[in-house]
Amino acid sequence: MAETTVTLAGGTEMPLVGIGTWQLSGASGYNAVRKALDIGYRHIDTATMYLNEAVVGRAVRDSGVPRKELFITTKLPPAKVGRERKTLEESLHDLGTEYVDLWLIHWPPRDGASPGTWQHFLDARQEHLARAVGVSNYSTAQIDQLVAATGQAPEVNQIRWGPSLFDSRRLEESREREVVLEGYSPFKSTNLRNQVLTEIAAAHGVSAAQVVLRWHLEHGIVVIPKSARAERIATNFDVFSFTLTPDEVTRIDALAHIGPR
Ligand SMILES: NC(=O)c1ccc[n+]([C@@H]2O[C@H](COP(=O)([O-])OP(=O)(O)OC[C@H]3O[C@@H](n4cnc5c(N)ncnc54)[C@H](OP(=O)(O)O)[C@@H]3O)[C@@H](O)[C@H]2O)c1
Repeated sequence: MAETTVTLAGGTEMPLVGIGTWQLSGASGYNAVRKALDIGYRHIDTATMYLNEAVVGRAVRDSGVPRKELFITTKLPPAKVGRERKTLEESLHDLGTEYVDLWLIHWPPRDGASPGTWQHFLDARQEHLARAVGVSNYSTAQIDQLVAATGQAPEVNQIRWGPSLFDSRRLEESREREVVLEGYSPFKSTNLRNQVLTEIAAAHGVSAAQVVLRWHLEHGIVVIPKSARAERIATNFDVFSFTLTPDEVTRIDALAHIGPR
C-alpha cells in the first residue's frame, strides 16, 4: 500500500492529496467539497483570498467527518499583513473550527520574506490555532531569511509545480531545510496529451491526469488538484493503487526540458 501522508517537521501528518478550492464557491464549491469528503479526501486547501471559507466550513460540518480526521489549510493574503491574528480568527470563524491544520503566508508580502509576519505564524502555532505553519510562493532565499530571523523554517512551501516545472535543485534545497513542497496547479501547467504521459498512463490503465498526480507522490510532493466535477474529483483521488517505476519518473522529470508541450 502506497503512503498516503507525509510527516511535517513539527510532527503533523499531512495527506499527500487534497482538494484545491480556488474558484470553487457557492453551490459548486459546497458540492465539490462534500463529494471529495464522501469519497475519502481528508485534506482541503482554501485561502482567505478564495472567499469560500464559510462554504468549505458548511460542507465540512454537513459531511459528518470528525474534525480530527481532517487536514484544513488556509492562507493569509499579503493585503492582510499587519492584521495577521484578526484574519486568522476570521478564517477560523468562517471555517467553523478552533484550529487549522496548516496556515500559509499566501505570497511574500511586498517587503519580501516578512519575518514579522512569520513570527505571528509561529505564535499561532504555539497557541494551537494552527497545527503547522508554512509559506507559499517563497523562493529558497526568502525561506532562508525567515530561518535567519526566527530560527524556524516553514514546514511547507506551496508552489506552482508540475512536470513542465520540475526542478531537482529546488526539491533538494527544500529537503535540506525540511520544508515539504506542496504543488499547486498540477494540470494548468501540464499538457495532458503529452506522449510521455499518455504512454505511461496506458501502461497502467489510468489517465494522464492520474499519472501527473502520482508523479508528485513519487517525489514526496503534496498535490491539491481542483475539480468541480464529481467524476474527476473521484479519479484525482484514485492514485494510491498504482506506482510509477523509477524509469517512468525520470521520463516525466525530463519534460521540464521541453516545457508544457
Ligand atoms: N498558493 C497559491 O498561490 C495557489 C495558486 C493557485 C492554486 N492554488 C491551489 O491549488 C489548487 C489547484 O490549482 P488550480 O485550481 O490552479 O489548478 P489545477 O488543479 O491544476 O487545474 C484545475 C483545472 O483542471 C481541470 N481538471 C481537474 N481535474 C482534471 C482531470 N482529471 N483531467 C482534466 N482536467 C482536470 C479543472 O476543470 P473542472 O473543474 O471542470 O474539472 C480545472 O479547469 C487550487 O484550487 C488552490 O487550492 C494555490
